[in-house]
Amino acid sequence: MHRLCPINAEKRLRIAIDGPAGAGKSTVAAEVARILNYTYLDTGAMYRAMAVLALDKEIPLDDFQALGKMASSVTIKAREDNGVFRVWIDGEEFTHRLRGPKADGAVKILAMAKPVREILVPIQRGLADCGGVVMEGRDITSVVIPHAEVKVFLTASLEERALRRWRELGNKGITAEFGEVLSEMEARDAKDLERDWGKLVKVDDAVLIDSTNMSVAQVCRSIIDLCEARHCCFTNSPDGFLA
Ligand code: CDP
Repeated sequence: MHRLCPINAEKRLRIAIDGPAGAGKSTVAAEVARILNYTYLDTGAMYRAMAVLALDKEIPLDDFQALGKMASSVTIKAREDNGVFRVWIDGEEFTHRLRGPKADGAVKILAMAKPVREILVPIQRGLADCGGVVMEGRDITSVVIPHAEVKVFLTASLEERALRRWRELGNKGITAEFGEVLSEMEARDAKDLERDWGKLVKVDDAVLIDSTNMSVAQVCRSIIDLCEARHCCFTNSPDGFLA
């Protein structure tokens, strides 16, 4: 009987995942990468690092040219380390500064800056080049790696996404009104959908996964099934099936 090979051993796929805030992209991408022994790449973290740097340098966030100049004058290094995506700028680690209200507020605006996107997109492409990656963001399937072997648009209802974010804040000991979290999520969706460059779109050949009523394990399984279905090869090895 012919059986499926473990896909990571046979072909190092590029798995591209886009979706709105709170859809669970980071959790799912990191977990799929762990299961397949692939590298997890969080492009949002790179935009966040740029936003934090702009705040440090007191560059006005509406001065897109100045932001582009800033982005082109620094060395950006990023890599995954045990499921954590780490970012360094000019040798200084920014990883621990990427989350929080200041970074959240700044990155929404900075992500609209085309000159910054023009710097980050080629770096992201470079990271994905050798395959064996799970890359998540907003424009991965449309702009960064449109030829990725597996493309997913991961979403969930606005209420569910807001609930997840609200619980996440609670787990960090931050008390917030659910209504406020929901409005903030709605505002972020609008920004992601409306910007001129790198906006969030579902490309035709991306598979839609609505995670509203799905567990993390179920979403990961669906993505791995997609990888197997599209890029399987056959073997008679008894160890062939992916665990
Ligand atoms: O995790 P969360 O959805 O809150 O944010 P994120 O994925 O870390 O993204 C941070 C910001 O960067 C958001 O405002 C995204 O719209 C933006 N972003 C982007 O413009 N392009 C990407 N490829 C990834 C993120």
